[in-house]
Amino acid sequence: MYIWFTVLAGLALLSLPFLKTLFPYLGEDCVYILRSIKLGIRLVKYKKRKPFYSIVDCFLDAAEAHPSKTFLHFEGREYSYGEVDKQSNKVARALQAEARLKEGDPVALFLANEPSFVWTWLGLAKLGCSAALLNYNIRSRSLLHCFSCCSAKVIIASAELQDAVEEVLPTLRERGISVYLLSEACSIQGINTLSDKISQASDQPLPQDLRANVSIRSVALYIYTSGTTGLPKAAVITHERLWAASFIQAVCGVTSEDVLYINLPLYHSAGFLIGLVGAIERGMTIFLRRKFSASQFWDDCRKYNVTVMQYIGETMRYLCNTPQKDGERNHRVRIAIGNGVRTDIWSQFLNRFGDIKIRELYAATEGNIGFINYTSKIGAVGRVNFVHRLFFPYTLIKFDIEKEEPVRNSEGLCIEAAKGETGLLVGRVTQRSPFIGYAGNQQQTEKKRLRDVLKKGDLYFNTGDLLRFDHQNFVYFQDRVGDTFRWKGENVATSEVADILTMAHCILEANVYGVKVEGHEGRIGMAAVILREGEDFDCSDTYKKVASYLPAYARPRFIRIQPCLEMTGTFKMKKVRLVEEGFNPDHVKDPLYFLDPEKKMYVPLTEEIHRAIASREIKL
Ligand SMILES: *[C@@H]1O[C@H](CO)[C@@H](O)[C@H](O)[C@H]1NC(C)=O
Ligand SMILES: *[C@@H]1O[C@H](CO)[C@@H](O)[C@H](O)[C@H]1NC(C)=O
Ligand SMILES: *[C@@H]1O[C@H](CO)[C@@H](O)[C@H](O)[C@H]1NC(C)=O
Repeated sequence: MYIWFTVLAGLALLSLPFLKTLFPYLGEDCVYILRSIKLGIRLVKYKKRKPFYSIVDCFLDAAEAHPSKTFLHFEGREYSYGEVDKQSNKVARALQAEARLKEGDPVALFLANEPSFVWTWLGLAKLGCSAALLNYNIRSRSLLHCFSCCSAKVIIASAELQDAVEEVLPTLRERGISVYLLSEACSIQGINTLSDKISQASDQPLPQDLRANVSIRSVALYIYTSGTTGLPKAAVITHERLWAASFIQAVCGVTSEDVLYINLPLYHSAGFLIGLVGAIERGMTIFLRRKFSASQFWDDCRKYNVTVMQYIGETMRYLCNTPQKDGERNHRVRIAIGNGVRTDIWSQFLNRFGDIKIRELYAATEGNIGFINYTSKIGAVGRVNFVHRLFFPYTLIKFDIEKEEPVRNSEGLCIEAAKGETGLLVGRVTQRSPFIGYAGNQQQTEKKRLRDVLKKGDLYFNTGDLLRFDHQNFVYFQDRVGDTFRWKGENVATSEVADILTMAHCILEANVYGVKVEGHEGRIGMAAVILREGEDFDCSDTYKKVASYLPAYARPRFIRIQPCLEMTGTFKMKKVRLVEEGFNPDHVKDPLYFLDPEKKMYVPLTEEIHRAIASREIKL
């Protein structure tokens, strides 16, 4: 007996360091698994509560528990949990009276990154309404499209976006849409003011039965992602998704004592779901900014005691590009959550700004699978972990880049990629990991569904992303397939850009793609076009179309004139070679043009311009 005991104890003692060498990430894996299980249990509890416990209820509890705690810092002002709660009551009451909103009504928010975004959304949520978060960079055609895919009857816009609203006002009025501007006064007929009504409304709490029917499966938000064909798509975010995303901060080790810096746009899932909603879940303080500023960043962090930051690859690069100063490590930032940081930038960032835990994650707004880098592995976006995989089955399959489709065997099934091999990430659609799809766009929803993957009749969500698992089970993001590219932190759908280009009278067809530029994250827009019979390239008309219909980040900065466009066997335009050839006039024999924003036209791309881009005299 005694001997057994010592043997066992000895084994146990031995096994810890032994296990640690055999499974070097065991500790981190366990912490992550335990945290995830704890959160999973919480979600099940919320689901079962009657009425359903939503993130708004969580906010209300926080406002009751610590009403005077600062919720938002913004442009030198502080707004406590209590104040934001009251303000959102006023918004809800004003909208109830003015727009007759009730549970289930979708409302489009066309708002800048400011506190009113937060309390307007909270007000809507208190009424049980869903909110469509419109990107404030979009205009005209895109704006109307995004607005209509969520079938909202009401749009609420920031005062500073009045011009954009006016531009589409005739169409909105034709469709009987009510338009509200967050302003005290507006002389335009058909635009209602809202701020005056909000300030007159009562700040008394709203009865919970207004949202009695909201359940975990109800739509909470529509968040737009760039479509693979045509205009942006509205990804449907249910309350379940909202909760799941809100837990990311908790999984990363953020606590209620932390202060979060949000400078990413609130209309994207990073800023809204992981940032704002995550902060509500934690009951923490947010420092909100209209726009990211590299030069102000660390001063802001010091002044507001920021401890958690969010980033995208560009953010990190811009911060590393700022001139070195003394005392750069003098700040309290301890965790950075985001995605898209490259290994070299990552190391630079740590060297300069000190020991910050980076929590790199991979997830798509509408996807049913995500990863978090919870270990200290440079370059990885996460880890294959058997518990995670058990609950959320996924796999990598072989993908044909030329044909832009998965490789299938003789039985018509996909083939799993080997470890170390790049493959397309697909996540099995199950009860627990559903793929809800896009509002009012059955066709796009269907396009993201992949059937007969490993078995006849199975169903997977196609992420459209190429990843690689290494032999230690680390996950690496490789690339995105075909029809979108990422520039300045925004996804651009190539077909939307192509549609706009062909509005220029000289252009018959356009093949749009993204190309790498030395020293920049992502890919910049480029288009190979063929001209109409007998037409020359019209530098100024093309510029006009591009500038009036596309946000700056989506405009093709380079144009390549081709005699004809190469097609694949399945009549898709060939891109791989074009992407590789890029925009170097030394290598490309076709005429090349460059979008010159100062001259407001396309200009021939000379050696000189090419050199100036490479040396960063020309800023892209
Ligand atoms: C909730 O749903 C029931 C049944 O569909 C309906 O009668 C009731 O009016 C709804 N409540 C609200 C607040 O909309
Ligand atoms: C930051 O922390 C310091 C010291 O703990 C405190 O004096 C200061 O008021 C804090 N600043 C803000 C904006 O909370
Ligand atoms: C993953 O996290 C660790 C530790 O925080 C970090 O050292 C590593 O660089 C991260 N990987 C990426 C790609 O961010």
